[in-house]
Amino acid sequence: MSKIKELVANPIARLNQDEVPLFDRLVQYAKQDVTPFDVPGHKMGSAMNPLKQVLGEMTLRMDVNSMKELDLLSHPQSVIKDAQNLAADAFGAEQAYFLVNGTTVGIQAMIMATCKPGDILLVPRNGHKSVMDGIILSGAKPVFIQPEVDYHFGISHGVSLFNAKKAIEEHPHARAILITYPTYFGSMCDLEEICQLAHKQGIAVIVDSAHGAHLPFLANGIQDPIEAGADAVTISMHKTGGSLTQSSLLLLQNNRIVPEAIQKILSMLQTTSANYLLMSSLDVARRELAVHGRERYRKLKPIVEKAIAQIEHESRLEILKPAYVGKHFNQSYDWTKLVIRVNGIGLTGFEVYTILKENYGIQMELAEGYVVMAVITTSDTEESIGKLVYALKDIEEKHGEQTVIMSTHVTADQVNKLIVSPREAFYSEHESVDINEAVGRISADTLMIYPPGIPLVIPGELLSHDVVKQYHYYRQTIGTVLTEAKKAHHIMVVKENDK
Ligand SMILES: Cc1ncc(COP(=O)(O)O)c(C=O)c1O
Repeated sequence: MSKIKELVANPIARLNQDEVPLFDRLVQYAKQDVTPFDVPGHKMGSAMNPLKQVLGEMTLRMDVNSMKELDLLSHPQSVIKDAQNLAADAFGAEQAYFLVNGTTVGIQAMIMATCKPGDILLVPRNGHKSVMDGIILSGAKPVFIQPEVDYHFGISHGVSLFNAKKAIEEHPHARAILITYPTYFGSMCDLEEICQLAHKQGIAVIVDSAHGAHLPFLANGIQDPIEAGADAVTISMHKTGGSLTQSSLLLLQNNRIVPEAIQKILSMLQTTSANYLLMSSLDVARRELAVHGRERYRKLKPIVEKAIAQIEHESRLEILKPAYVGKHFNQSYDWTKLVIRVNGIGLTGFEVYTILKENYGIQMELAEGYVVMAVITTSDTEESIGKLVYALKDIEEKHGEQTVIMSTHVTADQVNKLIVSPREAFYSEHESVDINEAVGRISADTLMIYPPGIPLVIPGELLSHDVVKQYHYYRQTIGTVLTEAKKAHHIMVVKENDK
């Protein structure tokens, strides 16, 4: 029995978070003298390969396929299993699964594991596209919960406890409730209370924590979703946890969702050629967070607080802060998100986003009508954050106006009427129509603005004047609204005779 397995068998012992079993084994393999007659065809970069010059020889030597000594993601028994056990331990969960198609696949799997076709899923309307796709895949019947809308910052927060409670009371036979925690903008609803209410009815709580990989390491009273009692949580380690893009973790506890069912669904949805660079980056990122995360976030917090104070004292810009979110929305707030309200200086978030990139070389996470948002991680320093503070003050001086921009189209929060289930709309016959002539039709399309990846409309919903107005607003400001229609300004709708 490996040391890790021994420790797993003894629940009192914590695992040694310094270990990186998958990463170590992969490096060991990459250093061996191997003559590969397996795929990938670049054969550890043995031939002249332009990628080798850019990525380095070791990267290509580590880009290998599953084999006995490196374990198999769909049926982990050795180093992947050990690495997953360490991840579960670091996040306080009972099981952890490595994901190589981001949180997207984890969300789809959590929905499919809890909902059969026709089962009710309670879900926030501002859920990510992957939530809507999970609904289509599973055939679940969504019952939408309106999120809290913040008209001052022009964004939406999490769902209120009141609305979640109402949804649970009105749908006691729902199979699951999905909660986004934290939201893209960093707010966190009362998840513990929602878990208790849902569990009383036998409803599973599944959590989209794409933006919350760092939460367990923040301390200062911030609760992570596993601590709050969620049954399944998916976190994008690649977003704030330090692993490579696309790598995520699915965590389970409480046994409401059977581990074998999750493993089976993940094996259906994920590739049979899971990328070892991605998986081993999960191993390393987990170690960094578990061993150094708390200390690094403790040091980062005063730097962020100083930056917020500087921005607010020396400019008319406003920052979204825990006290504000607590007072107005009764939710807690993740201080690593810097949501900066810029409409008070007469500029839109989109304009500031572009100026920051073009004039200061600063790439923000996203822009909305009133705000721009920076994501702060332990890779940031006083210097990088100082650069942002300087740029924001400089932009106000050079471009700021005395006017305040107010728009009616700043969030994607309108309630659309669901006429048929998203799955039914998806499998109906479709046609492409000019968006301006689509009012009154049933959407077969998902109109996406990315970021933040919240659909303006999903398949099955009635296309209203509001949706069309928002489409035009985002096209003018962001430049692209993703639709499935090939022709410009068109949208896919359900054919009239196929409702
Ligand atoms: C709220 C939310 N959920 C889920 C996802 C999907 O995560 P991933 O990119 O890891 O697949 C995203 C991505 O931006 C997101 O913002």
